[in-house]
Amino acid sequence: MERSFLMVKPDGVQRGFIGEIVKRFEQKGFQLVGAKLIQITKEQAELHYAEHTGKDFFERLVTFITSGPAFAMVWEGDQVVALSRIMIGKTNSMDAAPGTIRGDFAVHTNFNLIHGSDSLESAQREIANFFSEQELVSYSKSIQTWI
Ligand code: PPS
Repeated sequence: MERSFLMVKPDGVQRGFIGEIVKRFEQKGFQLVGAKLIQITKEQAELHYAEHTGKDFFERLVTFITSGPAFAMVWEGDQVVALSRIMIGKTNSMDAAPGTIRGDFAVHTNFNLIHGSDSLESAQREIANFFSEQELVSYSKSIQTWI
């Protein structure tokens, strides 16, 4: 079973979208296995976005993601990495389709509400950056038979 790291960014927390975002992933049929409100450190942010070091938006991105609490989550499910990226929508707010989280709620690319891992490898690295093994739970629901 796949796991993905998803995070409501500081703008999403400030705008009160934690519940809406959790609801969407629950209703899709994914299972929450870890969650916490965190204040991301500069070190964690630079590691999280390491592949973008040097890009023109890097410093702004680190400043933004450390500017206030974020809601970090680990979700589990079949193909959760790829499917959650579809649910999140495209990075650029002009390209994010209605029905996606960004398409429905984000106006600016700089403030695009949510992060989701883009591959299984990224998911493993990102989960380890923000969660200890003890913070993640394993459990089964009978509903999984239908999903
Ligand atoms: S890239 O350059 O194509 O690899 O960028 P992308 O993978 O689309 O995005 C990398 C992360 O940077 C955020 N991003 C931006 N932040 C601020 N300003 C601009 N212009 C910008 N462009 C991209 C984007 O939201 C990605 O972060 P996450 O947390 O994964 O959404």
